[in-house]
Amino acid sequence: MKLQCSAVIIVWTLAGTYAKTSVSKALSSSYAPIYVECPSDLQWLRPAIGLNPKEANWVSGRKHVVVDALSIYLKQLELEEFDVSAYIAAIKENDYVHVPIMGYSISGGGWASAFTGIGGMRALDSRLDAAKEQKTGGLLQCLTYMAGVSGGSWPIMSIALNDFPTVDELVKSWHVDINRENATTDTEYAASPTTLFKDLAAKAKAGFNVSIADYLGRALAYEFIPNADGGLAATFSDIVLQSKFQSHDMPFPIIHMVEIDEDDFEYSGLQLPHSNSNLYDMTAFEFGAWQGIKLFSPMEYLGTAMDNGNPINESACVRGFDRASFTIGSAEDAFNAWTIQTDSNGTLGGFSKRSRKAVGGRMLSTSEPSMSKRDSPPTAALEGVVEGFNETFGLNISSMAYAFYPNPFAGISSVTPASAQKPLLRLVDGSETGQADPLWGQIQPARGSNFIITWDDNADQIPYNWNNGTNVYDTYLAARAESIPFPIIPTSNTFNSRGYNVRPVFFGCDPVLTTTKSADSPIVLYLGNAPYSAYTNFSYAQAATTPSQMSDILINSFNEVTQGNSTLAADWPVCLGCAAIDRSLPRVGIQRTAQCETCMAKYCWDGTEDNATAQIVNPGLLLQPNLTFAEWIKTHDFQE
Ligand SMILES: *[C@@H]1O[C@H](CO)[C@@H](O)[C@H](O)[C@H]1NC(C)=O
Ligand SMILES: *[C@@H]1O[C@H](CO)[C@@H](O)[C@H](O)[C@H]1NC(C)=O
Ligand SMILES: *[C@@H]1O[C@H](CO)[C@@H](O)[C@H](O)[C@H]1NC(C)=O
Ligand SMILES: *[C@@H]1O[C@H](CO)[C@@H](O)[C@H](O)[C@H]1NC(C)=O
Ligand SMILES: *[C@@H]1O[C@H](CO)[C@@H](O)[C@H](O)[C@H]1NC(C)=O
Ligand SMILES: *[C@@H]1O[C@H](CO)[C@@H](O)[C@H](O)[C@H]1NC(C)=O
Ligand SMILES: *[C@@H]1O[C@H](CO)[C@@H](O)[C@H](O)[C@H]1NC(C)=O
Ligand SMILES: *[C@@H]1O[C@H](CO)[C@@H](O)[C@H](O)[C@H]1NC(C)=O
Ligand SMILES: *[C@@H]1O[C@H](CO)[C@@H](O)[C@H](O)[C@H]1NC(C)=O
Ligand SMILES: *[C@@H]1O[C@H](CO)[C@@H](O)[C@H](O)[C@H]1NC(C)=O
Ligand SMILES: *[C@@H]1O[C@H](CO)[C@@H](O)[C@H](O)[C@H]1NC(C)=O
Repeated sequence: MKLQCSAVIIVWTLAGTYAKTSVSKALSSSYAPIYVECPSDLQWLRPAIGLNPKEANWVSGRKHVVVDALSIYLKQLELEEFDVSAYIAAIKENDYVHVPIMGYSISGGGWASAFTGIGGMRALDSRLDAAKEQKTGGLLQCLTYMAGVSGGSWPIMSIALNDFPTVDELVKSWHVDINRENATTDTEYAASPTTLFKDLAAKAKAGFNVSIADYLGRALAYEFIPNADGGLAATFSDIVLQSKFQSHDMPFPIIHMVEIDEDDFEYSGLQLPHSNSNLYDMTAFEFGAWQGIKLFSPMEYLGTAMDNGNPINESACVRGFDRASFTIGSAEDAFNAWTIQTDSNGTLGGFSKRSRKAVGGRMLSTSEPSMSKRDSPPTAALEGVVEGFNETFGLNISSMAYAFYPNPFAGISSVTPASAQKPLLRLVDGSETGQADPLWGQIQPARGSNFIITWDDNADQIPYNWNNGTNVYDTYLAARAESIPFPIIPTSNTFNSRGYNVRPVFFGCDPVLTTTKSADSPIVLYLGNAPYSAYTNFSYAQAATTPSQMSDILINSFNEVTQGNSTLAADWPVCLGCAAIDRSLPRVGIQRTAQCETCMAKYCWDGTEDNATAQIVNPGLLLQPNLTFAEWIKTHDFQE
């Protein structure tokens, strides 16, 4: 792919001040952020203590909606000896304080996790008749949070900015059959590299650093972000304008990214974050980190040059830096890791299958990158893009590999690490820390999560791309180090030998089996993408998906979440409901029923490690055990 970008000519009139209405007009005509007069009443910095008041207010509104959804969901389960009305009444009497806070999270893993993960959500949606029939439908309506990292951030951003449609409607709007890596002409649903570089040039001309994160983001936006020109105008903070956000009828989205520090590991001019590097928490309201920096700044004005908590120029506040496209591109930007993996012939970089163990089994120190190998990254497909950055912007690989964010915390001497005091932050795909399951935001005590469903399809089990819990284990280690309430998670050996890689398991049911030995920890349902009716272990780098593959993927996730419409486990829908509300029961003075007791005994990890030596993990279809991959692939169009 040879790009003709040097001839791009951009006319950009540097903005003075914009009236509020003309902000959106400006953003719909150019990817460049604009400069406005700074608002006089804005709180630029919020200490990471408790929730942002706007989020707290929103969550409180959401609780009222969730209570009604929970009542419908629980009634349909027909739980034995459980009085749903009494439970709901007890919650209401207590001023809704004990409405269980539940969430869903989709791991990194490119299009694979994006699609299998949204398939899991689909099976929980009461708007889908089949899901309602299976009695899993309705739980989606009870969720307060939804989080994504890397490829998992795409469906989260997409469903939020599309005003929470059904998954079938959403997927239809994606045009998944278009290959996003090699579009050469402009259509309604894809843009040519020339167009993408024109967008970037406008941003550069306005004085902002551009990188491959902008490029990937603009390209992906044609798939995931609604409205004209590949969702050009849409910003992350626009989510607050969605009608279902305003009426509290969708979960609250959270996206993660991670920071590169000056002294991080470097190879061929590129750096990788260390394994407990600062995780940024991004919502429609704010941008910041709960640890390290311990500050948040308003999302809407992200991009404003700041020093010590104040805008450097009161007439040059920035709007439109927080483009939805840039967010999903930054969240996906693992170009550093892909390149290092390619340049080192797969011996380094190992994105994103990072365990805290080095090759050979030694635990890594926090300053070391990890090195497990995985699928070939899409570096070859992006070679022309590297050239394009050279030709268009005169940037070499070290200066186009990371997502650049003007730092709202610049010049604040209390901020750690020191690199987080500099004017420019370098962010990359949040999975590069080893936490490819985006649980970190939801488990912050301020958010008070009680139940989290984690969809894991970051394909860490080598060689066949199944999942072994490594990343949720890494979150456990990180939570333990920070004394954040979180379930104790066993090692991947236990996942594989006990079958938690292919069937649902709850962690942290017994408060004793949590980092703080308390019921402050959520219960975590782990769902690793597994073969139920289809072998959905295709590569994360597969950039086009046929309609028949998409159908296989959605049905497979549906079968996983419903346990084959209960054919594999008749008690599953009831047990899912039991776990979802379990933490809230003692708080409203209700006892776990005998039926739920049986469920918890069956589906909760009991704390026993099974460290049997790992074998090659190549499961057959759970719903058709003797249909081998070799037979199945003959009639299905997935890669071999
Ligand atoms: C893009 O790649 C796909 C899959 O390799 C191929 O079928 C298609 O023809 C390519 N399109 C272009 C425009 O090169
Ligand atoms: C890229 O350029 C910068 C200076 O602008 C230099 O410090 C860096 O070493 C270069 N990187 C590579 C990989 O050549
Ligand atoms: C502050 O920003 C305004 C508007 O962009 C610009 O005209 C002015 O020159 C800036 N002032 C300084 C000192 O940079
Ligand atoms: C990678 O492999 C190529 C070809 O086999 C070889 O030329 C190169 O030196 C290797 N690089 C590293 C870092 O091992
Ligand atoms: C751009 O590419 C040319 C030709 O390969 C090379 O000489 C030059 O150093 C590159 N510039 C940068 C900034 O990497
Ligand atoms: C960001 O852009 C400025 C101005 O073009 C440039 O001087 C600086 O080197 C860039 N920073 C990085 C990290 O590329
Ligand atoms: C699980 O995946 C990680 C990351 O790829 C790998 O290091 C580890 O060996 C796997 N565990 C087992 C038991 O195979
Ligand atoms: C379960 O129901 C869904 C939706 O009707 C269907 O697509 C799927 O094939 C069913 N699975 C089984 C195992 O019957
Ligand atoms: C299994 O391995 C884990 C992690 O290495 C260790 O903490 C645990 O004690 C082991 N358990 C058994 C029963 O060997
Ligand atoms: C998918 O997994 C099956 C075994 O479960 C294996 O035979 C097949 O090769 C895998 N496919 C890919 C693309 O890794
Ligand atoms: C498929 O496997 C089942 C056991 O899971 C066995 O009873 C049956 O005979 C097998 N069928 C074929 C065609 O191999």
